[in-house]
Amino acid sequence: MKITLQRGKLEAFASEAIVAFHFEGDDKLIRETAAIDKASGGLISDVIQSEDFQGKLYQPSLIYPKGTIPAKRILLMGLGKRSDFHLDTWRGGASKAAQFLRDRGIKEFSLCPYLRGERKMSLEDSSQGLVEGIYLGLYQFTEFKTEEREKIKEVERVNLVIPDEKRIAYIQKAVDAAEIISRAVYLARDLVSQPANRKTPSMLAQMAKDVAENSGLKCKVLTMDEMKKLGMGAILAVASGSREPPKFILLEYKPQSSGLDTVVVIGKAITFDSGGLSLKPSENMDKMKQDMGGGAAAIGIMQAASQLKLPLHLVAFIPATENLPSGSAYRPGDILKSLSGKTIEVISTDAEGRLILADALAYSHRFKPKAIIDLATLTGACIIALGENVTGMMGNDEKLKARVGRAADLTGEKVWELPLWEEYEEQIKSEVADIKNVGGRPAGTITGGVFLKKFVGEYPWVHLDIAGPVWADKDKPYIPKGATGVGVRLVVQLLREWEVSS
Ligand code: BES
Ligand code: ZN
Ligand code: ZN
Repeated sequence: MKITLQRGKLEAFASEAIVAFHFEGDDKLIRETAAIDKASGGLISDVIQSEDFQGKLYQPSLIYPKGTIPAKRILLMGLGKRSDFHLDTWRGGASKAAQFLRDRGIKEFSLCPYLRGERKMSLEDSSQGLVEGIYLGLYQFTEFKTEEREKIKEVERVNLVIPDEKRIAYIQKAVDAAEIISRAVYLARDLVSQPANRKTPSMLAQMAKDVAENSGLKCKVLTMDEMKKLGMGAILAVASGSREPPKFILLEYKPQSSGLDTVVVIGKAITFDSGGLSLKPSENMDKMKQDMGGGAAAIGIMQAASQLKLPLHLVAFIPATENLPSGSAYRPGDILKSLSGKTIEVISTDAEGRLILADALAYSHRFKPKAIIDLATLTGACIIALGENVTGMMGNDEKLKARVGRAADLTGEKVWELPLWEEYEEQIKSEVADIKNVGGRPAGTITGGVFLKKFVGEYPWVHLDIAGPVWADKDKPYIPKGATGVGVRLVVQLLREWEVSS
């Protein structure tokens, strides 16, 4: 799909379809919509007066202007009540319009990327949001559909039509950023959508290398032998049940300028989590291919950061392994020696995410980072606590958590903080080792966070439990059912604002 900026007026623009927005209950039409209405001899007013269309949130209405204007169709798209309107409904409106037209086989359409006079969004946010909405909403994972491929519908071209010449360069920048960020979300979604037999740790490492090559990142992959030499006993234990060797993937983005802050991003990448000997029930076990969603997000974040040329030094660690039961698998009751030197008693082999993250967190100390951000599908308990749509946030640094909160407000990726009070530490005390990997059922997400905290040291750190939002069971306005790419937009937004707010 190609998105291009065009100078002109939508009502005078030749296109398969132009999109006009309308707020529910507004007597006055949005300025861009009014211009189309006027040029088409009042076709839009007619539809609204007939009460067939009220402008309800994401309500569509297709109008055929029959030669009154150059466009073949006008798609009216409702934005709901003006008082409820915000950037996320705008993304949704753009997505719903694009999906509506795509589903009818329309391959090209045009729209204006902002609403003149709408004060809730800057021109920049509005243009970025619209392009993101279109991209993210049109995502499809079709790689393994071999039959009737001709029936797959795709939009090929979107024209962003802007009447004001002076604004074009400015808007182009926002559109470029939106494309980079959306492509990074696509990358993360593609990785999560892949079945586990197509993304073993070795394959994932190769994909990370390919991304690095294409985006000017450095990539290094630690092999099992290197991990043994380093003493990464936690990740090695998790990997021991599988025939597939684990990979510890490092990606680095380092711009030329000196004195830049170093930020570490860590992504859990269990390419398949069967639970190991603490085997999961077979129902829904197929979903556990998503258990590398944190790693996928980290790869996406690195690609976007490099393409956006962010003024930061970024390092990503993606510990990748399968978690399988076998005669060589680690067992409940085993005691592991982690890279940090701390010993860990394994209560459940299904609490494997925190084990691989423990080694990655300890490894990150070498970089003396200004911040560590980890993303992980860590606990089913997070879905119980916050639902499927919300990321659980825990951390040791108020400023960093506030940055995440601001990024969440802007991107619409919902985040809610859970506490890491000292009293929870009691739950993961071990009788025989320094710590145990499960703290019982109460506060299951928090005890996961408390466990990680033990390996963070003094560095500012935030842990994002994305077990819920990594996968959408139902379509959302701009997130089609399936892998969501959660975390990419959130962390990229945080990193883009790094300088501004530090
Ligand atoms: N990968 C799972 C968590 C998960 C569950 C992610 C559902 C996405 C959807 C994790 O490794 C796990 O199994 N956690 C256990 C922890 C428990 C044994 C302390 C869980 O949530 O039950
Ligand atoms: Zn598990
Ligand atoms: Zn897991």
